[in-house]
Amino acid sequence: MDGMNSLTLPASPLVQPAYVLPPARFVRAKGWPWTHLLRMRNDPLALMRDGAKHGADVVQLDFGFTPAFVLYSPDAVHRALVPGDAVWKGTRGAKLMRRVLGPGLLTTEGVAWKARRKRAQPRFRSEALKSMPGIVQRHSDQLVERWLADPAHAGVGVDAMAGFSRLALAVVCDVLFGVDPGEDAAVVHQALEQVLSGFLRLMTSPIEGLDQWPLPASRRHRAAVAALDAVVARLIVRRRAAGPLEGDLLADWIVAADAGEMSVEDLHAEVVTMLLAGHETTANAMTFTLALLGSHPAELAAVQAGLDVGDTGPLDRAFAEGLRLYPPAWVMARATSEPLDLGPVTAPAGAFLFIPIAAIQRDPRWWRDADAFVPGRFLDLDPASKAAYMPFGLGPRKCIGEHFARAEARIALATVLRQFDVQAVVPAANPSITLRPLGAVPVRLTPRASAGGQPGRCAHKWAPTS
Ligand code: HEM
Repeated sequence: MDGMNSLTLPASPLVQPAYVLPPARFVRAKGWPWTHLLRMRNDPLALMRDGAKHGADVVQLDFGFTPAFVLYSPDAVHRALVPGDAVWKGTRGAKLMRRVLGPGLLTTEGVAWKARRKRAQPRFRSEALKSMPGIVQRHSDQLVERWLADPAHAGVGVDAMAGFSRLALAVVCDVLFGVDPGEDAAVVHQALEQVLSGFLRLMTSPIEGLDQWPLPASRRHRAAVAALDAVVARLIVRRRAAGPLEGDLLADWIVAADAGEMSVEDLHAEVVTMLLAGHETTANAMTFTLALLGSHPAELAAVQAGLDVGDTGPLDRAFAEGLRLYPPAWVMARATSEPLDLGPVTAPAGAFLFIPIAAIQRDPRWWRDADAFVPGRFLDLDPASKAAYMPFGLGPRKCIGEHFARAEARIALATVLRQFDVQAVVPAANPSITLRPLGAVPVRLTPRASAGGQPGRCAHKWAPTS
């Protein structure tokens, strides 16, 4: 293959190479057959991060019979995602996801996807989201009240992940569906937990379609998918009963289904897709950002000082930096439908492509002080870093909810931070379909009196820091 270079980095910085090698633009990662597929099963984040150590633009992994390429340079990512017509969501993970979500906006292709995007897009325009700030504010005030009522808030701390998950689900249901999830919120959280915890094993199993087998883990997975579908059915019934079918996305879909423009299966797929894609990612991002601020007193003080004078700039930059260090959609995957020129190498048709946003956004080639929490870098991002920043994806399949998520996080975090000083330890990152905190995320809250502290930097590895 042209441009191929199988050199790896010297094992120790003490070993000086006799001459300086040009950067290896394409590397075939070494390992026993199937090694990388196994590692994808056990430690996918480390697999993707270690590939970045080659300093290459594209790294080929051994995934058994299917050629698999990991794209580390913004140029290679751009070539794959921006034209977008030589790739599709045809990996095993994507097929498994389609069996969870059904044929909705996230999982369909071509004309079917275009029609879905066109139908949903108007509800994400700023005019359509005019009532959103009031709704998010109301849910954020309720969150703060619940936290204040919890005696743990000044002691061991409240669980930020649980609080933000509940808030984000309520916001999606309220803004996009015009209903309150009520007790179904707990059903959604439990089912999602089950799907996410088993997903990697099902996806990397040697047997494709293991989720359809009569095995205990597969049964639990299918039961969780069925529970989600039952919630969707109840939400639709509740929305029909709530009043005229106008003014929100769920109403649009129900009207289209009643008119025969959408099947019942499509309606369910759209609702469950938005329900899950629209809340878990945002909850993860808010949680990591709050934990980062809770462990960086000077950055916290800067955010609070901004909020005191009505400037959300420092908060927006802290959220952007949280998304850089812990991107909730941490890896995107595609399959090639035709040969695709990635720059240093051409991927054949039928290859898998991985775009590890989490590794690209910490690659020292594009980021100074890559592992440190430095929100100020977003005041003046240089072009190389800008190209390497993609928490909401790239190209035609870019996230439809980017502005929704940013607006929600701004209001919810501002509500918490205006009122409290926070102390937290950044949790370990747990990779599944999304990158989420491992376990509960205790955050200690004290009514604001003495924000401040010494500026300091610490490296945010993928493990807990103190
Ligand atoms: C911080 C929060 C969020 C992050 C980091 C995020 C990230 C992403 C990324 C990276 C993609 C592209 C996936 C790919 O190309 O494979 C995506 C797609 C998508 N996101 Fe988000 N997202 C967030 C919030 C939201 C919200 C709030 C909603 C809806 C309310 C949403 C709905 C969707 C949908 C439906 C897609 C599929 C779009 C399509 O294929 O046309 N996301 N998201």
